[in-house]
Amino acid sequence: MDKPVVSRRDFVKSAAIVAGGAMVAAQGEAQEQKKSFKVGLIGCGGRGKGAIRNNLSAGKALGIEVKVVALADAYQDRVHGAQKMLAKEGHEVPANRCFVGFDAYKKLIATDVEIVLMATPPNFRPWHFAAAIEAGKHVFMEKPVAVDPVGCRKIMEAGKLAAQKKLGVVAGTQRRHSANYIANQKLVAEGAIGKILSGQIYWCMGKLWFKKRKKEWDPAEYLVRNWVSFTEMSGDHICEQHVHNIDIANWFLGGHPLVAVGFGGRARRQTGDQFDFFSIDFEYPGGVHIQSMCRQVNGCWNRVGEHLVGEKGTTSCGGRIDATPKVKMPKLKRSDPYMQEHYDLMESLLKGQPLMEAQNVAEATLAAVMGRISAYTGQKVTWDEMMKSDFHLKPTPEDFETGKVVLPREEPPVPGKA
Ligand SMILES: NC(=O)c1ccc[n+]([C@@H]2O[C@H](COP(=O)([O-])OP(=O)(O)OC[C@H]3O[C@@H](n4cnc5c(N)ncnc54)[C@H](O)[C@@H]3O)[C@@H](O)[C@H]2O)c1
Repeated sequence: MDKPVVSRRDFVKSAAIVAGGAMVAAQGEAQEQKKSFKVGLIGCGGRGKGAIRNNLSAGKALGIEVKVVALADAYQDRVHGAQKMLAKEGHEVPANRCFVGFDAYKKLIATDVEIVLMATPPNFRPWHFAAAIEAGKHVFMEKPVAVDPVGCRKIMEAGKLAAQKKLGVVAGTQRRHSANYIANQKLVAEGAIGKILSGQIYWCMGKLWFKKRKKEWDPAEYLVRNWVSFTEMSGDHICEQHVHNIDIANWFLGGHPLVAVGFGGRARRQTGDQFDFFSIDFEYPGGVHIQSMCRQVNGCWNRVGEHLVGEKGTTSCGGRIDATPKVKMPKLKRSDPYMQEHYDLMESLLKGQPLMEAQNVAEATLAAVMGRISAYTGQKVTWDEMMKSDFHLKPTPEDFETGKVVLPREEPPVPGKA
C-alpha cells in the first residue's frame, strides 16, 4: 500500500475542520510525543474488519503503534470472526475484551480504548457516537451516520460536544480523503469552472445481498443480518450508498440543499421495505439544482460519480476539469482513501489539531433522508422541516437494547399516501 501523499496542510484547506485556537495548539504540544493509540471496533462485519485493517496500516505508515484493545458486535460469530482475523495478523484481543449484544458498545466504550471505530448499520450510529463522545473518545465512524432527522441532529449535537472536548472525528466519506477529489475541489473553489450552475450525481448499480430468514432468528437478528433491505436500518440505498455523492455535491457547493423534490419506486425487490430506485432534484442556495439518481437493479446502465457544470467549464469532481481557460491538474501520487482517512485522523491527533467531520457527514446524511422522504411521500421537502422534524424510525436503537423489536411490514411506501 502506498504511503499517504496528502499532507494535512492540504487537507486543512479543503475539508471542514473545527479545531484550531490556542488551546488546541497547547494541547498539541503536550501530545507531540505520543506514539501509540488504543483502538476498538463496534460492528465487526465486512467494513468493520476492513476499517480496523486500514487503521492498522495507517498506524504503520505513521510509524506509531496501534493496539486493538476491544471488539464489540451484536452477534458472537461476528466478534469471533474479527478476533480470528486479527489474531492471524498478530493482534490478540483477549476474550474478556470481546463484547457481544446490543449493549456491547457501552462495554467497549468503558474500556481504556482511545479511538472507537464504528461500522454497525447506520441506525445505531447516533447513539453509539453520542456515548463515545460523552466518554471522551475519538471516533472514526462509517457513513451514513443516521437514518432519520432525529438521528442526524443527534450526530450534529454530539459533534459540537466533541469539538468542545477537542476530540477527533473522521467519517467514512472517504472521497474527502482522496488526493484527486481534494485537488479537484481546491481548483473548483479557486474558480476553475467559475460559479457552479448545476450538476448530476449518480449511484446506479446492481442489487446487493439478501439473507433468507432462518427459523431461529428473532426479528432483531433478521433485521441486522438483512439491514441493507430495511429503511429502519440503512435509511434506504439513497442514504446508505448515494450519501457519498451527495456529500461531494455539498462539499463542492459549500453547503447542503434547501429543498428536495423526487420520486422513486420498487420493481425488483421482493423483501424488506426499501425502494429500488430514486430520482431527486436537490435545490441548493442560489437556485443551483443538482439532479441525483440512484438505483440497485441488475442489467441496467450503471454509473457512480458526479458531474458539475460551471460558468467556465465542467468537472467530474474526482477526475478531470474541462474548462476555458484550461486547467492543469497537479500530478498526484494516490493513496488508498480508506487508509488515508485513518492516517489523517491519527495524524491530526498527534499534532493536537483534531479533525472534526461530524457536521459534514450529518448534513450529507440528512440531505439523503430529505430526498428519500420526498420520494416516499411524493411531497416537496425542505431542510427547515428536516431540522425541526421529530420523525424517528422504529424499531429504535433503544428497542434493540431492550428487546422490543417489532418487524416492519415488508412492503415499500406508496407516494401520495405515505
Ligand atoms: N465507506 C464505504 O465505502 C463503506 C463501504 C461498505 C460499508 N460501509 C458502511 O459500513 C457500515 C457497515 O457495513 P458492513 O457492510 O460492514 O455491514 P455488515 O452487515 O457486514 O456489518 C455490520 C456489523 O454490525 C453488527 N451490528 C449490528 N448492530 C449492532 C449493534 N447495535 N451493536 C454492535 N454491532 C452491531 C452486525 O452484527 C454486523 O457484524 C454501514 O454503515 C455501511 O454503510 C461503508
